[in-house]
Amino acid sequence: MRFDVVTLFPEMFGVVRDLGVTGRAHAQGRWSLHAWNPRDFTQDVHRTVDDRPYGGGPGMVMMAAPLEAAVNAAQEARAAQGLGRAPVALLAPVGRRYDQAGAETLAASDGIILICGRYEGVDQRFIERCVTHEISLGDFVLSGGEIAALAVIDAAVRLLPGVLNDGDSALQDSFNDTLSGLLDSPHYTRPEVYDGESVPAPLLSGHHANIARWRRERSLALTAARRPELIEAARAKGWLTKLDERYLAELGGTEVPADKVSPHRRKPRKPASGDVPPVAPDTPKASDAS
Ligand SMILES: C[S@@+](CC[C@H](N)C(=O)[O-])C[C@H]1O[C@@H](n2cnc3c(N)ncnc32)[C@H](O)[C@@H]1O
Repeated sequence: MRFDVVTLFPEMFGVVRDLGVTGRAHAQGRWSLHAWNPRDFTQDVHRTVDDRPYGGGPGMVMMAAPLEAAVNAAQEARAAQGLGRAPVALLAPVGRRYDQAGAETLAASDGIILICGRYEGVDQRFIERCVTHEISLGDFVLSGGEIAALAVIDAAVRLLPGVLNDGDSALQDSFNDTLSGLLDSPHYTRPEVYDGESVPAPLLSGHHANIARWRRERSLALTAARRPELIEAARAKGWLTKLDERYLAELGGTEVPADKVSPHRRKPRKPASGDVPPVAPDTPKASDAS
């Protein structure tokens, strides 16, 4: 699988190319990365890639010509390698949200050309001429498309055959069909007792069916509390068993007690004055736990 990335900051991509699971897979030749800097496709002495926006307003806009030339060079390099024309995706907050299904589709393909915007964005004429997809990482604004592109690459590469050491581990992750598209259950490792808190008894029982049932119930409870729409999607696909439905009915819809979501949830520490929570509180609140 081949990724071509059009970016003003090619050095940022060392993170996926050289480190961790994706770095190992890159060293094994399971995927390749080719960075194209639009500055290398400029004609002026200053290697200009941006200019002021027509109509006024703050910031700068990336010019169409260097981006288009970089995309053409990437397509030509792919063709020279015997690959067909690749989709061209612009990372953009206005794009379609990237998700696990998107990562799976990408992992099953030959690869993609990713365009990393900077400044206020890129000239719309480039988007209309060259871009086939627009991908968002979420409803927030990054300084550039590179971090979004890194996430797109990482999520797809870890799904390639042979990339994860334990071949099953991707199947047990959140959103996977094997988990009925639900959220993953909590994980524990040694020590068995940590600061007075024990690992939940079913996980120590050695009884495979009980362990599987405990994990399934945690997964159902967590998903019902945090992402009820994923429960609905699993139900619509016929992925919930009678046992699952009985358990969900016992939970009482989406009003899931906190101790069912996570057995070790503690009351949050009292916020210091001036503390601003970095994220909205989960539902239900930990303080709901009995
Ligand atoms: C400062 S942002 C421009 C934001 C743009 N003016 C807007 O409001 O939609 C610069 C670049 O970062 C990238 N970017 C920012 N947020 C992103 C997100 N949520 N998902 C994907 N790419 C994003 C895009 O490539 C964008 O062109």
